[in-house]
Amino acid sequence: MKKYFSSRLAVAVMPLCVALLPYNKVSAQNKTEDAKMNTYVKSLMSKMTVDEKIGQLNLVTIGAATTGSVVNKGVEENIKKGSIGGVFGVWGTAQTRQIQDIAVKNSRLHIPLIFGLDVIHGHRTIFPIPLGMSATWDMNLIKQSAQIAAKEATGEGLNWVFSPMVDIARDPRWGRISEGSGEDPWYGSQVAKAMVQGYQGASMKNADAVMACVKHFALYGGAEAGREYNTVDMSRIKMYQDYLPPYKAAVDAGAGSFMSSFNTVDGVPATGNQWLLTDLLRRQWGFKGFVVSDYTAVNEMTAHGLGDLQTVSALALKAGLDMDMVGEGFLKTLKNSLAQKKITQQEIDLACQRVLEAKYKLGLFENPYKSMDADKEAKEELSPANRAAAREITKHSFVLLKNDNETLPLKKSGSIALVGPLADNHRDMLGTWVIAGEWQKSVSVMEGIKNVVGNNVAVNYAKGANITEDAEFIKRLNFGPGMVSVDPKPADQLLQEAVDVAKKSDVIVAVVGESQSMSGESSSRSDIDIPESQKNMLKELSKLGKPMVIVLFNGRPLTLTWEDKHASAILDVWAPGSEAGNAIADVLFGDYNPAGKLTATFPRSVGQIPIYYNHKNTGRPYSSGPTKFKSNYLDISNDPLYPFGYGLSYTTFNYSDVNLSKTKLKGNETLTATVTLTNTGKYAGEEVVQLYISDPVASISRSVKELKNYQKVNLQPGESKQVSFTITTELLKFYNSQLKYDWEAGEFVVQIGTNSSNTHKASIWWAK
Ligand code: BGC
Repeated sequence: MKKYFSSRLAVAVMPLCVALLPYNKVSAQNKTEDAKMNTYVKSLMSKMTVDEKIGQLNLVTIGAATTGSVVNKGVEENIKKGSIGGVFGVWGTAQTRQIQDIAVKNSRLHIPLIFGLDVIHGHRTIFPIPLGMSATWDMNLIKQSAQIAAKEATGEGLNWVFSPMVDIARDPRWGRISEGSGEDPWYGSQVAKAMVQGYQGASMKNADAVMACVKHFALYGGAEAGREYNTVDMSRIKMYQDYLPPYKAAVDAGAGSFMSSFNTVDGVPATGNQWLLTDLLRRQWGFKGFVVSDYTAVNEMTAHGLGDLQTVSALALKAGLDMDMVGEGFLKTLKNSLAQKKITQQEIDLACQRVLEAKYKLGLFENPYKSMDADKEAKEELSPANRAAAREITKHSFVLLKNDNETLPLKKSGSIALVGPLADNHRDMLGTWVIAGEWQKSVSVMEGIKNVVGNNVAVNYAKGANITEDAEFIKRLNFGPGMVSVDPKPADQLLQEAVDVAKKSDVIVAVVGESQSMSGESSSRSDIDIPESQKNMLKELSKLGKPMVIVLFNGRPLTLTWEDKHASAILDVWAPGSEAGNAIADVLFGDYNPAGKLTATFPRSVGQIPIYYNHKNTGRPYSSGPTKFKSNYLDISNDPLYPFGYGLSYTTFNYSDVNLSKTKLKGNETLTATVTLTNTGKYAGEEVVQLYISDPVASISRSVKELKNYQKVNLQPGESKQVSFTITTELLKFYNSQLKYDWEAGEFVVQIGTNSSNTHKASIWWAK
């Protein structure tokens, strides 16, 4: 027991402890553990009243609303009554301990609360936004970021994180594309697995482990027109093939909980969708944890048109929803529904059992104060080790979009004009969803540059432009106080200051793009350009004919057609987190050679959206240039500006042709596809070698290609390495019209290359 487990309290929870002893052999066989858990939970439930059981299904938030207008009232009284199963939105040992005390000391059965929080890309030490993290193509780093987040969170009383978000997104207008891993189902599945493993570790009972909550189940990223909370409607084949795999990967990785999404699936809101929550998630996939609704999502089924609160609450419970976030529909109506036989006692019991099992798996019955550790809290929060890890991880997330004439890396001498509203800025370093992250503790770009080059480089700074001059837009971005600060100087004057510093400098470094609140929840944009005020500044500066580097902050793919044409170099740094400035300076000045690759396609214009690499061929495929009666546009090419998998390096890589160990196969044979990769430039560097496969003839129309694997390879200048992939029939499988996951005999095209648009190809023929 932890030292905080006071003797008074030990007496209070003693009856429970007796029933669950002995516990110390955490390594006991899973089956024995399950049997013990069953016995414990059943025995506890036999003592519970219906009200107490319904109480376990009630998740509340205290204090400021997180993302909705509703905040729970009377929380203390309800905890005492046993009417609350979990709390979110609070952290810190002192606060969580106080609340846990109420449950453990003052409720009849002393059942501990579970404490959740939106720990999304770090808790105190903030890592890049998930879209940026995914650009690392490095599952070890992704896992490490989740482990550090869990370590910090478990010092502050938390046992449950509302992450990972694994929603596939192919529409950059949607602000929450920033919270996921982009557009590809296979790649998204790797990230989902790494995150769940990072959070939960080998056992959720471990001191540094938290329970993951996989969200948003399901298909939230398919919102029509990229408009937040909008309708989703898609075929079952598309669901199974393109949108569901990451959720399934998270189940396979042992995720302890899921969150239902706000949208409809096949016309029924996910939160009340029995096919989704029970048939698919539990029966087909074997999920054993519990499902919580999203924020007031049960209540929102009324607006979806499914009936009054009692009706939708009953619908959700019957569908397989176990916990109701904030809206208290379960708390207020389930007992009536039971009396009116609209739901059954077994349905309530099942949901209650799942919530209690989660608490058991977390070890909360053994020690309700398990993660409330003031020493750990003090030691872990933004510790030097956590910051160092963040700096390293962050560098790996940057994507070099353009680098003409080797503008980058910059020399550690001479002068730079550092301009743009994000250059001397702490506020926007962290990005969306940083509940416990403090922007004041982030490293600005200006500070990072000073840290890395000291006085060797003269830094001439001017803000140059506000994030935006659009008053209406600013109002919306400022949903929290001070989110966008506007310099009162007239735009012309700001601009002139930037031009003046640029004139006296060797190179311009413009730090521009989206501020924190421009992406994330409820931050859809119909125009995904860099805001006009900043673009005007770039236009003026480009007239000077000096090398111009854009350091781009963005929570989504942006339309950068002008920038691609006029900037000398573009380094995409997303929203980089606590170590932003240090990591950016490391890369700008060549201490680290960038190797990130895009996981979401960058369109040329909003009109191309949705745009993604693994699209269908159509009956009239576009080849190049506008041709009448082909699947194309009159006014723009079909090609994206930057394709999925794209990203440059300070060095250059050469790919050989694809060498196949065989070209004709049968049944369960396998083959090896190999390329020789050579570093042809002058810097050591990493390359993400990507394997795609196309299936040109099948019983349904297949995507033009699909990512199947990748390898990250490190090469010294002049060095070559053979990179091999094993290809099995597993990689050829897809969902057919009967939703059967299988492969079909025929030709396949193996493609290996540096991004989804630039591959070397070789054909194989595979017979059954
Ligand atoms: C979001 C979830 C989040 C929840 C709790 C909702 O509005 O959609 O992603 O976990 O709020 O803060």
